[in-house]
Amino acid sequence: MTKKGTYNKNLVVIIAAIAATGGLLFGFDTGVISGAIPFFQQDFQLSNSMVENITTAGLVGAVIGAMLTGRLSDIFGRKKTILVAAIIFVLGAIWSGWAPTEHDLLYSRLFIGLAIGISSFSVPLYIAEISPSRIRGRLVSLFQLLITIGILVSYLSDLAFADNNNVESWRPMFYVGVIPGLVLLIGMFFLPETPRWLMSKGREEESRKILKRIEEPELVEGSILRMKEEIEKQKHRPNFREVFKPWLRNALIIAVGIMFFQQFVGINTVIYYSPKIFMIVGFEGAKAGIWGAVSVGVVNVLFTILSLFMIDKLGRRKLYFIGLSGIVFSLLALGLVFAFHTSLGDMGKWFAIVFVWIYIAFFAISLGPLGWLIISEVFPLRVRGIGSSIGSLSNWLFNGVVAFTFFKIVKLFTASGKGIITQENLYDAATNSFSVQTIDNGNPAGAFWFYAVIGILGLIWGYFYLPETKGISLEKIEEHWRKGKKPRDLKK
Ligand code: BGC
Repeated sequence: MTKKGTYNKNLVVIIAAIAATGGLLFGFDTGVISGAIPFFQQDFQLSNSMVENITTAGLVGAVIGAMLTGRLSDIFGRKKTILVAAIIFVLGAIWSGWAPTEHDLLYSRLFIGLAIGISSFSVPLYIAEISPSRIRGRLVSLFQLLITIGILVSYLSDLAFADNNNVESWRPMFYVGVIPGLVLLIGMFFLPETPRWLMSKGREEESRKILKRIEEPELVEGSILRMKEEIEKQKHRPNFREVFKPWLRNALIIAVGIMFFQQFVGINTVIYYSPKIFMIVGFEGAKAGIWGAVSVGVVNVLFTILSLFMIDKLGRRKLYFIGLSGIVFSLLALGLVFAFHTSLGDMGKWFAIVFVWIYIAFFAISLGPLGWLIISEVFPLRVRGIGSSIGSLSNWLFNGVVAFTFFKIVKLFTASGKGIITQENLYDAATNSFSVQTIDNGNPAGAFWFYAVIGILGLIWGYFYLPETKGISLEKIEEHWRKGKKPRDLKK
């Protein structure tokens, strides 16, 4: 028997880290727009609805990207798919920074959105398929870590380039995206295809060669054998419809379900609107708001790093229950802070920011990484591309619904006379100038409680549906579904 650890673990980490740069671009490109908006709005003199269209274009692109490329990654391979995303990231960053008209900006955001959608499923998939089972969770979570670093970098780049005397400061904010795009493009060029995809194309020797470099030696032949068996079993079936067959129903419910709860605990209301939330609760001015957002970004990164060490030790289920309970607790507390903000006075804003940190910390150790990890694990080889693209498609759809409905939900749940009033310097397209306006922001207390209730439902759902995939090979997970067993009975 060969000693543990003689395979090249460093190589695997390098491979995963390069691929995970796709996550950095994902985070960067979703976050960067928030700081750029005030500038390009003024530069092109845009109405709020055009700004909304430009922002949403990225999301629409992501949905299309996630939808179209699932099959393509099964046909052409994971590596080529990520390369395409990298090219789009680079071209899109140049296009959006250069954009001479608002329409260029709109289409370039849509274009970058495609790359975000493509990479959001192909990167975790690539990493899962190339990782040894024992550290798969940790390596796929690298993707989440880079998403959070990307979000933080985008806040910082917004902060660095924002210049009130220069309406074109939004351009360099977008150009920054070229750098990680090139890293992904050049790095990925040298990385191998995944052994599992190669095997699905009958390229056994190539597959074995790569597997030997990345898997623990004693597991190589076993993995090859199991891949072969699985492929044999699935040979005569059309693979697109396969994913909707009864034996895979649980896998589908798990992938869509985990993304539903990841988004419907309201994570992106905090990511996209935290400057606004902090301003509402009493931090003065846009700068203070952005600094609040930076602090959220930092907590997010730090706790995602912590999750890397826990995910393959504590396992998926424990992290899910601990994390989601913490999320529910902080959402309830945030609701209280906003409900009683007048009696809390100046203390209110500090309570708000601390509970937002606690909320983000619990998200970062659980639903953040788990969403992307689980969708890359639960589907069998032949339909893994299409399966995980359904997972990331759901992520983008739910993300869009939550972002689009947040302020409406806030309004809906604001008792009359309880709205928080602020004075803000806003752009008015009619007069083509900025002026101080009085805004009734509503009160987000009810919205936070609403997300808390969804979190509680998520705890119940998780009890029945969240599988413990820690340390289990992808082939064994597949076997479990074939035997018609329940998700919570999956064990080593
Ligand atoms: C989610 C994103 C979110 C990010 C925050 C990701 O897992 O999918 O929607 O913005 O985590 O860290």
